[in-house]
Amino acid sequence: MLMDNRQEIVRLRVNGDLREVGVPVHYTLLEALRYGLRLTGSKQGCDKGDCGACTVILDGRPTLSCITPVWEAEGSDVVTVEGLATAEGPHPLQDEFDRNGAAQCGFCTPGILCSAAALLERNPSASRQEIQEALGGNLCRCTGYTKIYDAVEAAGARLAETAAPETEGR
Ligand code: FES
Ligand code: FES
Repeated sequence: MLMDNRQEIVRLRVNGDLREVGVPVHYTLLEALRYGLRLTGSKQGCDKGDCGACTVILDGRPTLSCITPVWEAEGSDVVTVEGLATAEGPHPLQDEFDRNGAAQCGFCTPGILCSAAALLERNPSASRQEIQEALGGNLCRCTGYTKIYDAVEAAGARLAETAAPETEGR
């Protein structure tokens, strides 16, 4: 098979920073993140859109970066698992995954955290069913999912609580 090894410069906004990266034109967003920018938190699992390990947040939506051509992400906001924590500390999801024992081998965890973060950003009070649906494309072969759902629910409750004072009285 002929491979196109021409490089192109792609400008990406990743975790709030503008980044330029030279990558082969056929690269996916996942390859640009992992091999161009050395952001290896997003995992390369099936590499064909089946497992969710590569999920990042693209303009607020969970996106399978292994099947997204890198040029499609130009001009968009990309958030990877590396961008979830802030200077104040871990994202509530990361904290609750720790408290609830929701990660075992951890390979699926970055993608699940990104899918869950996108959901809770839209709706911190998401129901158990909504959480299950939002994580439907993220496969985990270790945990049996219950602890993952528990952790997302607990993080949502914390986020809803901190958001409440801002919306009250509007
Ligand atoms: S690595 Fe992207 S869906 Fe499996
Ligand atoms: S914790 Fe191992 S695959 Fe999910």
